[in-house]
Amino acid sequence: MSTAIEKSAFGKMPDGKPIQLYRLRSDGLEARVITYGGILVSLKVPDRNGNAEDVVLGFETLAEYVEVFNSHANPYFGAIIGRYANRIARGRFKLDGKTYSVPVNNGPNSLHGGPRGFHNVVWQAQEIDGGVELKYLSRDGEEGYPGNLEVSVRYVLENAELRIAYSAGTDQPTVANLTQHSYFNLAGQGCGNILDHELRLAASRFTPVDSTLIPTGELKPVDSTPFDFRNRHRIGERIDSAAEQLRIAGGYDHNWVLNEDPGSLREAAQVFEPHSGRVLTVLTTQPGVQFYSGNFLDGKLKGKQGKIYPHRGGLCLETQHFPDSPNHPQFPSTLLRPGERYQQGTVFRFSTA
Ligand code: GLA
Repeated sequence: MSTAIEKSAFGKMPDGKPIQLYRLRSDGLEARVITYGGILVSLKVPDRNGNAEDVVLGFETLAEYVEVFNSHANPYFGAIIGRYANRIARGRFKLDGKTYSVPVNNGPNSLHGGPRGFHNVVWQAQEIDGGVELKYLSRDGEEGYPGNLEVSVRYVLENAELRIAYSAGTDQPTVANLTQHSYFNLAGQGCGNILDHELRLAASRFTPVDSTLIPTGELKPVDSTPFDFRNRHRIGERIDSAAEQLRIAGGYDHNWVLNEDPGSLREAAQVFEPHSGRVLTVLTTQPGVQFYSGNFLDGKLKGKQGKIYPHRGGLCLETQHFPDSPNHPQFPSTLLRPGERYQQGTVFRFSTA
């Protein structure tokens, strides 16, 4: 079935720049994406009885996104993250012998590309078959990163799947790690926490972190730990156990090393919500996935339809390269050189059970 695409206005940035919203509809699903931050502002998905609910956290207005995305409590709801998703230790890395500094905005580290990362810029949009393509030129030196990086992110809604395709090229050696930061609550956004969701992760190892959530460098087997999601587990089952890694992060906020070789799409994760029957399967070309259980949500943010987002009120499955890769030469490389093409894809596939 073909995808219906409609474009409308979604308010103006503080400097007057107009923001557009693209509404994609296909097979009873509906996705809404805006040109600010490439944010997926809503995603309606049917439950086992055919009732569609919005399953991602977010806000109703542009003003709320802009305000919260420029505050210290930024949850990055639904946004495209770059130039480097996740953390870079102390905001420093070396490339071809030169040290680069990027903004320190998360304890001692740099998080999600800095305060003016890709989540906080205006993208150019054009309609494509099945969806929308967003483009952004990140200039040499922007947020400290070298090289002009031209980025394209395509959202396509088809066959009960939201497919996201990332592509980037540079004119100087740089690092690139892009992801999508949607918070899912498959019971419906604002419907309590995600502790009853059941999760499976196709990963036998994860990257343990230090007290500032920077990987120690070890790829640790998940065997006999609360990080073993090779079979489906309720997220709440072990989240508050005494395991040191869980205490450091206040829950799950770690990168899992996906088992099968990166480069082609394979299953990374599956989430099942027992009351609605909704199932989300995540496929990706990336080597890792950050499973974040919404530990920093604290009930202070008021979201869509006046809903309050409680502690662990949404979960993120951020497909990505491992955190702090530029400082871990043994991790899959995030280096991008002129003439090379950064290309990654992630699929959010919906079904019911
Ligand atoms: C990522 C990080 C978390 C947190 C969220 C945003 O998932 O790993 O620690 O910063 O983004 O709140």
